[in-house]
Amino acid sequence: MKIAGTIKELHGALPAAGAGLVPTMGAFHGGHLSLFAAAREENDVVVVSLFVNPAQFGPGEDLDRYPRDEERDARLAEEAGVDVLFAPAAEELYPEGYETWVDVGELGRRLEGEFRPGHFRGVATVCLKLFNIVRPERAYFGQKDVQQAAVVKRMAADLNLELEIRVVPTVRDEDGLALSSRNAYLSPDERETAVALPRALTAGRDAFVTGSDPVKEARRFLHSLDVDYVDVADLDGQRVLAAAVRIGKTRLIDNVILEGAQT
Ligand code: PAJ
Repeated sequence: MKIAGTIKELHGALPAAGAGLVPTMGAFHGGHLSLFAAAREENDVVVVSLFVNPAQFGPGEDLDRYPRDEERDARLAEEAGVDVLFAPAAEELYPEGYETWVDVGELGRRLEGEFRPGHFRGVATVCLKLFNIVRPERAYFGQKDVQQAAVVKRMAADLNLELEIRVVPTVRDEDGLALSSRNAYLSPDERETAVALPRALTAGRDAFVTGSDPVKEARRFLHSLDVDYVDVADLDGQRVLAAAVRIGKTRLIDNVILEGAQT
């Protein structure tokens, strides 16, 4: 595996043919690995970007304490058969004088966008930059962040990007908690509390199947938690039940599909 720290190095490491790109912020877990595996299956060349994107963090969010371990990440990527790891410094992507942004519409203002204003502007901008730098044939995103996947797909369609966006199912721990780099923040007690989130969503989905209100049912499981939102949303051709909760200082999001196929 080659590791590139600059765009120039990356271009030196990339073959002419189109690649599969997996954008990440590092602190790899099974969710990331499943994206790498999907990319490995469908592309001759797999590029993973590792960049904790300052532009998608709001003031007071966890940018400064976001888990970083590039050595471990490089080892895991190599073991997963990744060809190129692109790990630029912040100044490489946002040099002095940088001032151009993707203005995401209504889709980026609901749900996560309501509680993290500017988040999807930062996500869309960095993804567009990565797409332009790597020029992948396919890019891989997780169902875990379904609104992010929908925003990126919308951008790709609206801005005539010539790549395919692939969405990979959510990978969960044995007790149902979706894997997330932010789970590392949870104390053992908080980790136990966190399982209420997938339980609530599963109960909501079960309620939906029998014709009851999924939001009301999910909320019953979350009464002791600090809930940002629990909502049914139509995203990317799917109807999902999505939620965000805070457990201590940690904010977790998750969703389940109510209707519509996994894309
Ligand atoms: P990050 O949180 O590192 O996630 C990278 C990719 O892994 C995202 O597409 C995310 O949806 C996917 N992912 C995370 N947890 C998952 C899980 N449990 N199962 C399946 N997929 C999972 O999302 C970002 O980084 C950033 O916003 C990024 C797209 C890189 C832009 O900066």
